[in-house]
Amino acid sequence: MTGLVRLLLFLCFASICKNAWCDYGHRRDEIIANEKHMAVGGKVKLTKEESIVNDQLLNMKQSEFQHFEVPVTFPQLKWKLEDSKVLHFIKDLPKGASLHNHMLAATSLDYLIQNITYRDNLYACENFNENKFKLKFFQVPNSDCNWKSVAELRRTNKNYDAYLVEKLSIDSPKSSREAAQKLSTYFTAVFDMLTYRQVFEEYFYQAMMELYEDKVIYAEFRGVFMELYELNGTVWDPMTSLRIMQNTVQKFVTDSNGKFLGAKYIFAVYRKISRDKLLEYKMQLNEAVMRYPNFIAGFDLIGYEDAGWPLKNFTRELKNPSVPYYFHAGETNWYGNEADNNILDAILLGAKRLGHAFSLAKHPRLMQMVKQEHIGLEISPISNQMLGFISDFRNHPGAVYIANGLPVIICNDDPTLWKTKSLLYDWYIVFMAMTNKDAGMETLKEFALNSLYHSSLKGSEKTRALKIFDDQWQQFVQQWLRMFSAILWMFKM
Ligand SMILES: *[C@@H]1O[C@H](CO)[C@@H](O)[C@H](O)[C@H]1NC(C)=O
Ligand SMILES: *[C@@H]1O[C@H](CO)[C@@H](O)[C@H](O)[C@H]1NC(C)=O
Ligand SMILES: *[C@@H]1O[C@H](CO)[C@@H](O)[C@H](O)[C@H]1NC(C)=O
Ligand SMILES: [Zn+2]
Repeated sequence: MTGLVRLLLFLCFASICKNAWCDYGHRRDEIIANEKHMAVGGKVKLTKEESIVNDQLLNMKQSEFQHFEVPVTFPQLKWKLEDSKVLHFIKDLPKGASLHNHMLAATSLDYLIQNITYRDNLYACENFNENKFKLKFFQVPNSDCNWKSVAELRRTNKNYDAYLVEKLSIDSPKSSREAAQKLSTYFTAVFDMLTYRQVFEEYFYQAMMELYEDKVIYAEFRGVFMELYELNGTVWDPMTSLRIMQNTVQKFVTDSNGKFLGAKYIFAVYRKISRDKLLEYKMQLNEAVMRYPNFIAGFDLIGYEDAGWPLKNFTRELKNPSVPYYFHAGETNWYGNEADNNILDAILLGAKRLGHAFSLAKHPRLMQMVKQEHIGLEISPISNQMLGFISDFRNHPGAVYIANGLPVIICNDDPTLWKTKSLLYDWYIVFMAMTNKDAGMETLKEFALNSLYHSSLKGSEKTRALKIFDDQWQQFVQQWLRMFSAILWMFKM
């Protein structure tokens, strides 16, 4: 009897579905499913346990959309997130690798000010070249400037730390030009302070620690080949300094019992240089690669793109790369200018990843190439907002890349300057404001996997990274499953 009823109902629906309205609904569902399949995470199958966690996650996500209803700046958003459940969840989430982080802006501002600037022998200069502020360690200050002891300045000025915060960070979104100025002020201020060898080692160690505590297992940092110095006047040449860096990584890896896989370095030089200078850097790069093949990961040209030289200028010099290129490209709001065209040249020069690629959404052909050639996209929404490229996170072009299933990697760029720490907040913003409202665990998992696939890790290193990530992920799912089950059980009572 019931079987017959079912058969009749089926026949009935089947005939109804011949009408246009049903067709419409069917096509509509199909297109939605299609788009979901195309997006980042769309091909990831969740296990039964992951799905249970996912349902809870999506509930939490839903309840926090209000934070983004009006365009919110990152400093405003940060205040609102003290009790955020999604942030708490993401804090705990295994994130894979950190791939776009500038070496001397890598830790929290808090550590930089509360720890580094409280050390003995630190001096400040108010008006160095171009009236720039500068900090440096000395046994006895030199005569380049009227150096003043920071300890002494602090004694006479109760607000000295607030003054440092103002000098060393960006408090609200700026115009790109103004922000570029601020970045340059920052790097000038801290360069000599952080290249004191002993401080550098501890600073670099702390940078890895902050990432590790954020469930990152591997990192790539960008920077120049520095000369580290000792207080007694000894200066270590760039190659020796690289060895010191590599040893610091080794120490951290050992201290983590191998749970942190390591860190590599992308040689990133200022883009407004002469051809001769670039050729000189290339020679330096080749020497470094020869000496430290496991530490040097790639090459990049950096600095405010709208004001520096475009990649097109250097296509001859940049042909035949000896290391992968990870170029900053398309960090601009203009369409068709030189910074925008940097994306095209970066791709033609064989870049393996693009830094920001903010203007890529305007180039359908280049988006196809990015997809075909598996070029990773290093997306840093907080940076893009603080540097004046975007106001509403929901309109970040990264949402377009995510919808198209391009290899998006979540990065933090210069966390010190945004008064943030590690990758947490960038992950939160991408998840809340730039993914589909129904995107959950599958998308988060693919972000993390993207960061490992598109890293410079090779062969067995990469296999190991994926294995460690997989273990972390299983553990994470189990832990949240227990947590959510306990909550669900309590509600049932
Ligand atoms: C800086 O941090 C290190 C490591 O946590 C600690 O040993 C040291 O005492 C701190 N220094 C200052 C000045 O806070
Ligand atoms: C300066 O200090 C470094 C590190 O402590 C040491 O290796 C070097 O020998 C010292 N140089 C002189 C001239 O004292
Ligand atoms: C880069 O190209 C621009 C425009 O063609 C030119 O003015 C500039 O001098 C070039 N820079 C270098 C370093 O060649
Ligand atoms: Zn950058």
